Amino acid sequence: FGYVNYLVEKDRKFIVNTLVNGLSRLEYRGYDSAGFAVDGDKKNEVLAFKEVGKVAKLREMIEEAKPDLTKVFDSHAGIAHTRWATHGRPSQLNCHPHRSDPNWEFSVVHNGIITNYKELKALLEGKGFKFETETDTEAIAKLAKFIYDAHPDIDFDVLAQAVIKELQGAFGLLLKSTHYPHEVIAARKGSPLVIGVKTQKKMKVDFVDVEFGEDVALPAETASQNVALKKTNNLLAPPDKSLLHRSQSRAFLSDDGIPIPTEFFLSSDPSAIVEHTKKVLYLEDDDIAHIHEGSLNIHRMKHSTSTSNVRAIQTIEIELQEIMKGSFDHFMEKEIFEQPESVINAMRGRLDLENKKVTLGGLRQYLSTIRRCRRLIFIACGTSYHSCMAVRGIFEELTEIPISVELASDFLDRQAPVFRDDTCVFVSQSGETADSLLALRFCLERGALTVGIVNTVGSSISLITHCGVHINAGPEIGVASTKAYTSQFVCMVMFALSLSEDRASKHQRREEIMEGLGKISEQFKEVLKLDKPIKKMCDQFKDKKSILLLGRGAQHATALEGALKIKEISYLHCEAVMSGELKHGVLALVDEDLPIVMILTRDDIFKKSLNAYQQVVARGGRPIIICNEGDPEFPAEKVEKIEVPTNVDVLQGLINVIPLQLMAYWLAVNADLNVDMPRNLAKSVTVE
Ligand code: G6P
Repeated sequence: FGYVNYLVEKDRKFIVNTLVNGLSRLEYRGYDSAGFAVDGDKKNEVLAFKEVGKVAKLREMIEEAKPDLTKVFDSHAGIAHTRWATHGRPSQLNCHPHRSDPNWEFSVVHNGIITNYKELKALLEGKGFKFETETDTEAIAKLAKFIYDAHPDIDFDVLAQAVIKELQGAFGLLLKSTHYPHEVIAARKGSPLVIGVKTQKKMKVDFVDVEFGEDVALPAETASQNVALKKTNNLLAPPDKSLLHRSQSRAFLSDDGIPIPTEFFLSSDPSAIVEHTKKVLYLEDDDIAHIHEGSLNIHRMKHSTSTSNVRAIQTIEIELQEIMKGSFDHFMEKEIFEQPESVINAMRGRLDLENKKVTLGGLRQYLSTIRRCRRLIFIACGTSYHSCMAVRGIFEELTEIPISVELASDFLDRQAPVFRDDTCVFVSQSGETADSLLALRFCLERGALTVGIVNTVGSSISLITHCGVHINAGPEIGVASTKAYTSQFVCMVMFALSLSEDRASKHQRREEIMEGLGKISEQFKEVLKLDKPIKKMCDQFKDKKSILLLGRGAQHATALEGALKIKEISYLHCEAVMSGELKHGVLALVDEDLPIVMILTRDDIFKKSLNAYQQVVARGGRPIIICNEGDPEFPAEKVEKIEVPTNVDVLQGLINVIPLQLMAYWLAVNADLNVDMPRNLAKSVTVE
C-alpha cells in the first residue's frame, strides 16, 4: 500500500494512519509481518517501522515508540507492506520495506518473487553492497542505488525502467527515494497493482484516460548506464535504446496549467482504496507508473504484451460495508451467511426462470466455438479447483464434451499437451493466483481458447482470458474461501446450461436444473439455520486429531472442499475420501474413535454410497451423516445427522457444503484460532 499527497497538507499522524489502515485492509493477503516507510524530520531522512506478526502489532509498536506525529507535510510519499513469507522466514529483518543502505536512499515494498535475485545479489555484493536480509526484495533497492550512484542526474522514472528491466520473476512493487522526494514508482509484472486518485478540486475534464503515444527512444544517459551495467556483469541485458513505449503522461492539471492538489493511493487490491476514492486505474503487466508533482505518468515496457493502448480511470463499485465485518465476529462467518445473497448476485440478469433461459454476456460470442472444442479443461487451485471438480459431472452430462479438471501447478509440472481446439477454463476467486496465471499463459501460447471464471474485476486472469464470467460474489476477505465456491459453482452450472441450450435431448434436464437454481437461495437460508446445532455437534471433535470425510460422485468434491476448510482454519487433519475407495485401504483407519462425516444425500449412486456407510458401521464407526430432510433411511434414534433441503442432484453439493463450512468455522472458533487469518496461509498466492 502506498499513499502520496501532493499539495494537500497532512500531518504525519494522518499519513501513518492511512498507510496502516491500508495494510489492515490488505492483511488478508499476508500477515507474517508488516511495515512502512515515511519521511523523517530532516531532509533526506526516512522513518521506518517494521514488526513481525499482524498489523495490530505494528500499531502497538508505533504507540510504544511514540514517534512525533505532528510534523506537517505539504507533499509526501509513504509506502507500506504486509508480508506472506516466501524468501526468508517471517522476521523483523525480513519485513518490508527494504532499503538500499542505512540511509534509506531507496526503499521498496514488493509482492511476488524475483527469480534472479541471487545473480543480482552476487553482482551487487561484488560492488560493495552489504545485504541485511534473506529476501529477494532487497536486491531491488540496492540495484536502484547502484544505478543511481553511477547516474545521479537520472530521472526517477528512467532509473526505475533501468532497474525493472533487470528483474526476472513476478512483482508488484513500490519504490520511494530520498533523492526524489514526494515521488513514487509503481510497477507490475504478474502481481496486481491499482492506483486510486482523489483530486481536491473538481477538474473541468475529469480523469481523461491515459493513452500510449509513439515509441520514444530512451534518453542518452540510460543507454550509457546500461552500457555501464553490461560492463559490470554480463548477466545483465545488453543496452536497448528504445526500451520503452512511452505513454502520454496524464498530468492532473487544471485548465490554466496550475497543479491540482491530489492524493494517490496505491494498493494491490482496490478494497484498500474504496474508503478514500472510487476512481481507480489498474496497471497492467509491464506498466511502470510514476507519480510526480501531482501527475500520474504511465510507461509501458517495450516488450509488453498488453493489447490495450489505454489505461482508463474507472469507478469501482465496491461499497465500504462490503469490506467491513458488520455485526459478525469474523469475515468468514459473514461470508458464509452472505451466500443466500451472493448466489443471487451470480445469477442476476443471467438466469431467466420465466423463459427458462441463461444468458452469460461475457461468453456469448464464444459459445459456438466452445461447443465445437475437442476438450474442456478446467484449471484452478485450492477451493476453486474443488468447484471445478463439483461441476465436472454436469458438464459431461449436458455438453458431452470430454472434460478434464486440473490443478494448475500439476498441469504446468507435466507441461500437459494443449491444442488450438481445446477450451481451457481458469477458475479463480482472486484472478491473481500465480499457478493459475502461469497455466493460463501456457495455454494462450498454445493457441487454446481461454475462459475466466473470476471474482475480482480487473484481475489478471479476467484481463487476459479471451472471455469469461465474473461470479459477482463481492469482496471475499476471509482466507478460507466460502461464498466464492458456491458462486463459482453456480456460474459454471450456468455455463454448462448455456453450452447445451441447443440440445433438444437435454431440454427437460436443463429446465429441472434451472428450477433448482431458482430455489437455491431460499434453501441456503434454511441450511444456515443449522448454525447452532452444528456448533454444538463440533464439541465432540474436541481433542480429536483427525477427521474422515466421505462422499461419492459429485459429493466427493464437497468432501474435498469441506476437508480443506477444516484443515486450513482448525489445523485438524481432515481427509476427504471417495466412498468407493474406502474398501481399498482407508477402511483400516475406521474404529469407534475416529470422527467420520459422510455425505449421503440422494442421487443416482445413493445405493453405492450406502454400501460405504454400512462398511463404516460394520467396523464400529459412528459417522455423522449429511442427508436429505426426512430421509427414512436414517432414523434419528440410530444416527447423528445433519438434515439438509433437497435440490436437483447436480446442485445438491451447493447445499451440502454449507454445514461443512460451518463445521470448520466452529472448530476453529472453539479452538480459539484466528479464523480469518490461519497460520502460514494467504488469500491470494501470487508466487509459484
Ligand atoms: C489460496 C487460498 C485458497 C484459494 C487458492 C486459490 O491458497 O488460500 O483459499 O482457494 O489460493 O485461489 P484463487 O484466488 O485462484 O481462487
